[in-house]
Amino acid sequence: MSERKQLLVVAHAPSPNTRRLAAAVLRGARDPEIENVRVRFRPPLEAGPEDVLAADAVILGTTENLGYMSGALKDFFDRSYYPCLEQTQGLPYALYIRAGHDGTGTRRGVETIVTGLRWNAVQEPLLCRGGFGEGFMARCTELGMYMAAGLDAGIF
Ligand SMILES: Cc1cc2nc3c(=O)[nH]c(=O)nc-3n(C[C@H](O)[C@H](O)[C@H](O)COP(=O)(O)O)c2cc1C
Repeated sequence: MSERKQLLVVAHAPSPNTRRLAAAVLRGARDPEIENVRVRFRPPLEAGPEDVLAADAVILGTTENLGYMSGALKDFFDRSYYPCLEQTQGLPYALYIRAGHDGTGTRRGVETIVTGLRWNAVQEPLLCRGGFGEGFMARCTELGMYMAAGLDAGIF
C-alpha cells in the first residue's frame, strides 16, 4: 500500500453555522471510500508551518469579518508565510468562505497571500454567502471530497 497522503483543513469556525460547514468539509474529506488520505483539522490559531510542511494539500476556511479574512486565519499566514515560502510552492489548496453578504475582500486577501506562496488553487473558491442555507453543507462536503479524492487518485 502506498504511503497515505495528508490533507490539512485549516478552518476558522466561530459560530454554530460555521462549525457545521467545517464538519461538512471533514465529512466529505473522510469519505470511507477514500482510503489513502489522512485528514487533519486544525483551527488556524492552533495551526502552523509544521502542519503545512507535512501536508500534501490544504483546505482553508474562514469567515469574512470587516471585509477581510478572519484575524485567526491571517495570524496563521503571518506565522507560516516565510517558513513555508521556499518549500510549499505548488501546494494544492482550496478555499471556502462564510460571508454574511459579501466575501470579495476575503477572497482577494487570501488569494494575494497564496499567490505570494505560489500555492495552486485546484478549485474555484466556495463562497457561502447570505442567509445560512442547508445547501452550503452539501457544497462543503463536495469540496472536502473533491480534495481528498484528488489526492487519493494522484490528480493533484
Ligand atoms: C464583526 C463582524 C464583522 C463582519 N463583517 C462581515 C463583512 O465584512 N462581510 C460579510 O459578508 N459578512 C460579515 N460578517 C458576517 C460574518 O461573516 C458571519 O456572521 C460569519 O461568517 C458567521 O456566519 P453565521 O452568522 O452564519 O454563523 C461579520 C460578522 C461579524 C461578527
